[in-house]
Amino acid sequence: MTAAILDGKAVADQIRSEIAEQTAQFVAAKGITPCLAAVLVGDDPASQVYVRNKQRACENSGITSRLHRLSAGTCQDELLALIDELNRDQAVHGILVQLPLPPQIDESRVLQAVSPLKDVDAFHPENVGRMVQGRPRFLPCTPHGVQQLLLRKNIPIAGSHVVVLGRSDIVGKPMAIMLMQRGAGGDATVTVCHSRTRDLPGLTRQADILVVAIGRARFVTADMVKPGAVVIDVGINRTESGLVGDVDFEGVREVAGQITPVPGGVGPLTIAMLLHNTLAAARLQT
Ligand code: GUN
Repeated sequence: MTAAILDGKAVADQIRSEIAEQTAQFVAAKGITPCLAAVLVGDDPASQVYVRNKQRACENSGITSRLHRLSAGTCQDELLALIDELNRDQAVHGILVQLPLPPQIDESRVLQAVSPLKDVDAFHPENVGRMVQGRPRFLPCTPHGVQQLLLRKNIPIAGSHVVVLGRSDIVGKPMAIMLMQRGAGGDATVTVCHSRTRDLPGLTRQADILVVAIGRARFVTADMVKPGAVVIDVGINRTESGLVGDVDFEGVREVAGQITPVPGGVGPLTIAMLLHNTLAAARLQT
């Protein structure tokens, strides 16, 4: 069997056109244009591309974007001062601090400084806590994008065994929590695996839905996947042979039922959900 391709880009385009329409309605009703302020510290080439893509997506949906670029040598107090300014700026509805930050800066200190009402990444402890308790203000963009893909492709989640490979704060942890919540988009049985898991292939082979966010190129091979499973590849790795995911796409597509490509899978959905959160933030603040 060859897996069907889960076209994340097409689903993201659909979500983005819905957001563009809702944004136009919001602007017409309130006379206020939602605005995202992106903060980029240093000159990591991948981060520059991500931020540029996010800004372009904003503009295509009628959301204003601003970029604040700081040098790689920026100290923590400088960055905190900028965040404080953006928190108080009523024209800014969403604040995104692109990660990773340079080593002299304490990431968790910075993420805590962003106003929870402008925290469109949903990284602030208050928003993480609300999400865990099942009363979210914002949902983190990448796991929310994956959940939307599963819902919009009518992939059964309730009662399914989801194995999440990776336990990061940005993807693995929130993904597991969101899919185990009660209600639509949840009710899954979730197992979280990571680099220290014993008999990893034995566990991943039990997955009806395998979400891979381990950050290692082509880590998941065909022998780790149950025939017919849905495989969601969150990875983006730069290799000599170009961009590849955390899944060995060519091998796994011969076993899986459905699979996301890299690029064109989860990445565009992450951006669509950032737009969703920016519009939601503007609504919350007006
Ligand atoms: N770096 C990698 N993923 C993300 C993300 O979702 N948000 C931010 N701000 N930085 C990231």
